[in-house]
Amino acid sequence: IEKSFVMMKPDAVSRRLIGKIMSRFEEKGLQLIAVKLLQVDEELASQHYGEHKDKPFFSGLVDYITSSPSLAMVIKGDDCISVIRKIVGATNPKEADLGTIRGDFAMDTGRNIIHASDSPSSAEREINLFFNSNEIFDYEISDQGWIYE
Ligand code: GTP
Ligand code: MG
Repeated sequence: IEKSFVMMKPDAVSRRLIGKIMSRFEEKGLQLIAVKLLQVDEELASQHYGEHKDKPFFSGLVDYITSSPSLAMVIKGDDCISVIRKIVGATNPKEADLGTIRGDFAMDTGRNIIHASDSPSSAEREINLFFNSNEIFDYEISDQGWIYE
């Protein structure tokens, strides 16, 4: 069972989309095991998006991510890293399939409302960057036999 780091960016929170976006993950059968509202600061943004530090869009990305509170989460489920990337959709919301979060709720790459880890190693790194171990919960939900064979 995998864990992924997912974050609703400032536009998602400020556009009051938290409930709608959270429903997509819950309805799929994934399990929320950590959540917090936080204002990402410049240092955390630079660490989180360190792989993009030399890209032309980096300073705009940091301004966007630090502009207002975000909702950070850890989500658990079978193959959830790739499943969640599919639910989130392509980086450019204009190209993202309808039915995906970005395809349904966003217009611009620079305002694409949500982040999701892209590999097991980035998931582990990002979860540790945003959460202490005592903020992540291990609990049973009774419907698992209806979700997994
Ligand atoms: P994340 O889940 O946020 O990491 O998005 P991603 O994995 O789909 O894309 P990537 O890691 O390549 O880029 C990280 C974020 O930088 C994107 O989600 C965008 O918010 C932003 N970004 C990427 N490319 C561009 C670009 O060409 N222009 C602008 N303005 N922003 C970009
Ligand atoms: Mg990425």
